[in-house]
Amino acid sequence: MLLGTATGQWRTIGLRLLATNMHATSNGPSPKRSLGLADVVALESSIASVDGTRGELVIRGYAIDDLARETSFEEVAYLLWHGALPGRRELRELCEYLRAERTLSPMVLDVLRLTPEDASPMAAVRTSVSALAHFDAEADDMSREANYRKAIRLTARIPTVIAAFDRIRKGKEPIAPSNAGSTAENFLYMLTGKEPGPSAKQALDAALVLHTEHGLNASTFTARVIGATLADIYSAITGAIGALKGPLHGGANIKVMQMLLEIDRSRDDPSEYVRKRLAAGERIMGFGHRVYRTIDPRAKVLRSMLEALGEEHDNHTWATYCDHLVKTMASEKGIAPNVDFYSAPVYYLLGIDPDLYTPLFVMSRITGWTAHLLEQWTNNRLIRPRASYIGPHNLRVPPITTRSGLIA
Ligand code: ACO
Repeated sequence: MLLGTATGQWRTIGLRLLATNMHATSNGPSPKRSLGLADVVALESSIASVDGTRGELVIRGYAIDDLARETSFEEVAYLLWHGALPGRRELRELCEYLRAERTLSPMVLDVLRLTPEDASPMAAVRTSVSALAHFDAEADDMSREANYRKAIRLTARIPTVIAAFDRIRKGKEPIAPSNAGSTAENFLYMLTGKEPGPSAKQALDAALVLHTEHGLNASTFTARVIGATLADIYSAITGAIGALKGPLHGGANIKVMQMLLEIDRSRDDPSEYVRKRLAAGERIMGFGHRVYRTIDPRAKVLRSMLEALGEEHDNHTWATYCDHLVKTMASEKGIAPNVDFYSAPVYYLLGIDPDLYTPLFVMSRITGWTAHLLEQWTNNRLIRPRASYIGPHNLRVPPITTRSGLIA
């Protein structure tokens, strides 16, 4: 109930500001402002905790680096949905369920075939996820059981959508999903038609774990806002994908790789490159975070993965560029890298096209989004903040014949 906590946050559950957080004006109570909702606590959640000062991300009580080291993507999906890590039997059942749900309806494949080949893969995923709803008989069933089944279906099918779109746009036939293997393994197989090696499988699996969940970020908030109107899960996830697409959120990973490739092509000194961009008033993608005031813990794990993959591929170019960029950003701006900074070169070393990096984020974050929706619906409250109106008041409507309009 409180506002103004020790950490300087405001608690406004459902974003309804409580009476003590308002002061009266002639126009009625005027809520406190927090532009961009920075530091506003809008709801209670037992899914993840992000400590921006200490650089910690904890999911259902477990540190993210422990999860990345010790568990698989499927185990974390179970953890997110059920609140506890699975035992052997639960994990086997979940994996079987996921494998059984990987196949797309032929109509969704038709949607992908009709999508222009130069469409952004994020736009293709967004449209296809919306289309998946038409072929799910439970799309509008809001029971908890049906929503859980849909969370599994979405998690199983999104990798198939991404791989199928990538092949179709390259003039190849989509590869039917395997009914064996992990999400990471099957995705790499559907993308290339080849069984991936153990290190590629393991690296992608760990990257998926790292991207599963991150508190009330922009896309998760979007999902919860839509879910809180009691719209269906497909509507909420379609909106969340739209939010993740933006370069200030998940879309940054594509921009990071474009930047690294540009540095490589131009043979620019990476530090000089950063200085020039900063001097031109540009942002350097993959740096900065609304919550972290230090390095993002996921970036630390991905940095080690980049090192290991670079060793294996005998390619240290990207790690070297990254080191220069990190040093220069620290000295010029005091800003640390975020998850998108290192995921980009890691995926590049796995041979994945840069414009698929944000769709890969969707493939993982679908678990966090759906866990949040299940949580939202257990104790739903409409999320409805206010805007501070800064326009005119008391205007009279003139007859149209006397209006000059905006075009002279
Ligand atoms: N490059 C250069 N300067 C930056 C960067 C950056 N990447 N990030 C923040 N800054 C600067 C801003 O210019 C601003 O400086 P000013 O006060 O002199 O104007 C200051 O730091 C604060 O920036 P804000 O935009 O107010 O910080 P906010 O919390 O709103 O931004 C954000 C967070 C959007 C992530 C920002 O750091 C950014 O644009 N980063 C680049 C995009 C990116 O990597 N996004 C991925 C984030 S992780 C994720 O979503 C999965």
